[in-house]
Order: sequence, then structure tokens, then C-alpha cells
Amino acid sequence: MDDYLMDNEGSVETWTELMLVYSAAMKQIEAKIEILNEEFQQVHSYNPIEHVKSRLKSTESIVKKLKKQGREVSLGNMVEYVNDIAGVRVICSFTSDIYRIADIISKQRDIKVISVKDYLVKPKPSGYKSYHMIVSIPVYLTDRVVETKVEIQIRTVAMDFWASLEHKMNYKFEGNAPQSLKDELIMCAEIVSLLDERMLSLNEEVQNYSKE
Ligand code: GTP
Ligand code: MG
Repeated sequence: MDDYLMDNEGSVETWTELMLVYSAAMKQIEAKIEILNEEFQQVHSYNPIEHVKSRLKSTESIVKKLKKQGREVSLGNMVEYVNDIAGVRVICSFTSDIYRIADIISKQRDIKVISVKDYLVKPKPSGYKSYHMIVSIPVYLTDRVVETKVEIQIRTVAMDFWASLEHKMNYKFEGNAPQSLKDELIMCAEIVSLLDERMLSLNEEVQNYSKE
């Protein structure tokens, strides 16, 4: 095979190929994160990452999202407008780890950061906090390279705990939860932020202590 073919940027041609490419991109991001965590463990005797969850968006959800955007269901539109077909969620202990991980990922040469939403600095009205990145990574097929998007969500254990309950509540009440529950959820979000802050400074104190 001619080498130059590998320089050809290509696009996906079938549904099966589309899912294969997204699955490959997701695995590559997962592997990168796992390697980072192992290296951190070796160099700093510390695991910044608690765990990683990944998922491929189902066909129904992809179609639903395009329809909601008022777009025609086509492979081209899926690739262009659905940014979270491949999703990787990274759960870490401290807020400082979130930025550390995001920074290291964005500096990798094969990764392009397409967009960032920092819901730590600016939480959603619901109280939702998390750090979101849409990145792209090259996937090498037999005859071409496909730049593929992956959504990475990075959050603390506490933020993840909150987001799971909020998600469950939204699902149960189809987005129309009673105001009292919404208020309680916002209160919980504030407690989560406070907890994250105090755990971070406690951890810093512990580390300084052992140095003395
Ligand atoms: P979509 O939500 O993917 O349509 O795009 P968007 O432009 O709103 O992106 P955003 O980065 O805000 O959200 C992307 C993903 O983050 C969602 O699919 C959810 O997984 C998660 N997310 C965003 N907002 C919330 C929220 O208020 N609660 C919970 N539990 N998850 C959220
Ligand atoms: Mg959204």
C-alpha cells in the first residue's frame, strides 16, 4: 500500500464504519487516561483518577438529538452535529485534579481540543458542575485517517454523585420536578462545592504535614 494514503484525511462511509470509528476513538482516549493514571502512580505515588466510565451513544439517542436540532438524519449530520457519540467520563478526587488532567490531555500532540465548557467556574442553573471537553483524535483505518470527536467530562466523586441523582430525578419527573425538590437539589449542589473545597484544602494540609 502506498504510504501517502495514510496522510489522506477521510470520512466515514457507512453506519457500521461510523460506530467502529467512534468506538476506536473512545478506546484510545480511555487508554491515554489509564496510562496517565499509572504514570502518576509511579512518579507521584498518587492516583488522580478514581474511575473512568465510557459509553457509545445509542442509535435512538443519536437520531433523537438530530431531530431535536431540526436536522435531517444523515451520517454527515451525525459526524458534524452530534459531539457526544463517544463519551468518556473521568471521575477524580479533587477539583485540582480536574484541571491537571484536562491540561495534560489537551497538550497531547494527536489530540485537538475543539471546545471546552467549564461548569466549575460557571455552574448550570440546576447546580450542575463538571468540566467538559470536545476533543478529536485520529483513528487509523486501513486506507485513511479519520479525525474523530470524543466528549470528555471530568468531575469529582462528589459532583458525580450529585449529577447521578439529578439525572435520575429529571428522568423520573421528565424535567418537571416539584420546586421543593429542585430547591433541595440546588442546596445539595452548594454542599457539594463546599465539600470539594474543604476536602481539597484538607488534602493540601495533610501533604504539607508529611513534608515537615
Ligand atoms: P448536549 O447536552 O449533549 O445536548 O449538549 P450541550 O451543548 O448542552 O452540552 P453540555 O456540555 O452542556 O452537556 C453535555 C452532557 O453533559 C450531557 O449530555 C450530560 O451528560 C451532561 N450534562 C449537562 N448538563 C447536565 C445537567 O444539568 N445535569 C446532568 N446530570 N448532566 C448534565
Ligand atoms: Mg446539555
